[in-house]
Amino acid sequence: MPVFLACSGGKGEKADQMDALIINGPAKLSGKVRISGSKNTALPLFFSSLLFDEPVHYENVPRLWDVETTLSLLHSMGTESSWDKETGKVTVHPLVKKRVAPYEWVKKMRAGILALGPLVAKYGEAKVSLPGGCAIGARPVNFHIDALRKLGAQVEVKEGYIHASVPSRLKGAPISFPEVTVTGTENLLIVATQAEGETILQNSAREPEVVALGNLLQSLGARIEGLGTPTIRIWGSKLNAPARPISIPPDRIEAGTWIAIAMATQSELELENCPVGEMESVLEVFRRIGAQFEMSPKRDLMTIYPRPPYKAVDIDTQPYPGFATDMQAQAMAVLCLAQGKSRMRETIFENRFMHVAELRRLGAQIEIDGNSAIIAGPVMLQGAPIMATDLRASASLMVAALAAKGQTRISRIYHLDRGYQRLDEKLRRLGADITRVTE
Ligand code: EPU
Repeated sequence: MPVFLACSGGKGEKADQMDALIINGPAKLSGKVRISGSKNTALPLFFSSLLFDEPVHYENVPRLWDVETTLSLLHSMGTESSWDKETGKVTVHPLVKKRVAPYEWVKKMRAGILALGPLVAKYGEAKVSLPGGCAIGARPVNFHIDALRKLGAQVEVKEGYIHASVPSRLKGAPISFPEVTVTGTENLLIVATQAEGETILQNSAREPEVVALGNLLQSLGARIEGLGTPTIRIWGSKLNAPARPISIPPDRIEAGTWIAIAMATQSELELENCPVGEMESVLEVFRRIGAQFEMSPKRDLMTIYPRPPYKAVDIDTQPYPGFATDMQAQAMAVLCLAQGKSRMRETIFENRFMHVAELRRLGAQIEIDGNSAIIAGPVMLQGAPIMATDLRASASLMVAALAAKGQTRISRIYHLDRGYQRLDEKLRRLGADITRVTE
């Protein structure tokens, strides 16, 4: 097994442990909270270690289940790692013995598809399990496969696995993604650095997580232009292994979730290490609902001032720089407290409304109309037993539970632990009455 140093072994440290959270609300919070490293940046960066022979060091790694799953998946390929969970330092020793990402791990975490790009780029061979559907939608990976074929890989899908091989050499080519895909852009960015000549990725994802990966590759010798725009040009080049530790930047979705928590509890909160520059559309939406924000001169400290009564708004989720689908559920919990009818249109995933039924159990008045949710407010939320169904749905339930009067028990909280570093502990330090129990 991978060596995970300084594991606390405490509550919430075992994926199969069905923890629940008991929240007595409404909560009134105050103080400062530090934003942890970004999950969706850490995962592609870890997989990119497979490009190298030397150990790769990471810092500010968030303590999450998806990090644990990634290291276990890398371990199943022969890659050893160590993780000091207290200091957030990870070292990956990228010695790949099996070029296989097995179903066992990819079914737990779809980001396992990020093994495909680095394996094809470095070894010209990969067998990666198809992720399958998940709670928020079908989430196929056909764009990844089609794009790899354009660069000269032979790709076959059989028996639940993507089998990719490179018969001669990877050759740069123009690729236009039919829809914006975050992990698809990340996989292709990596492969294109090892393809001969120029690759042009059109309709690329502009998400900060993609830019972070691109910046890392550039710092290691890759020639890439257009990061953060829909057209990225990549020229094949030799990469050098990272000489210094790679620091995981702060998580914009965690920061956005704290804004929703501050608003739902009408609490002034300070966010430390907040990636304000990546949060324009989220800040804009919360301003319209009824919040003010103050940035420190260095812009990494942001104070949130909730200004009720909140106003109903219409929101469409969009790829970056639009309003993130990963903030949709949390914003919806806040809209239950706003005056009037709000509409939340989910344009990225076809089934990302699993939280609606649970929010209704707390008293929310939400109707689903196709890909829109119509939220009527304000309602007085009341505590009840509810169940987490996916990561951001869990965060939404937490936001609502903190606003609700009485006791809420949120079951299956492992979904929350996949993507938020010790959210319950952070909340407790700010004054929330919240307890983790084993079911
Ligand atoms: N799509 C296809 N074919 C493909 C790829 C995508 O049809 O080959 C569709 C998807 O079904 C979806 C849309 O395109 O409807 C966008 O999917 P995308 O590929 O961008 O999603 P992803 O890369 O699988 C990442 C994040 C998600 C986040 C989405 C959208 C990681 C590890 N995951 O997923 O994060 O919601 O981008 O921004 O970066 C989360 O953190 O909770 C989470 C789900």
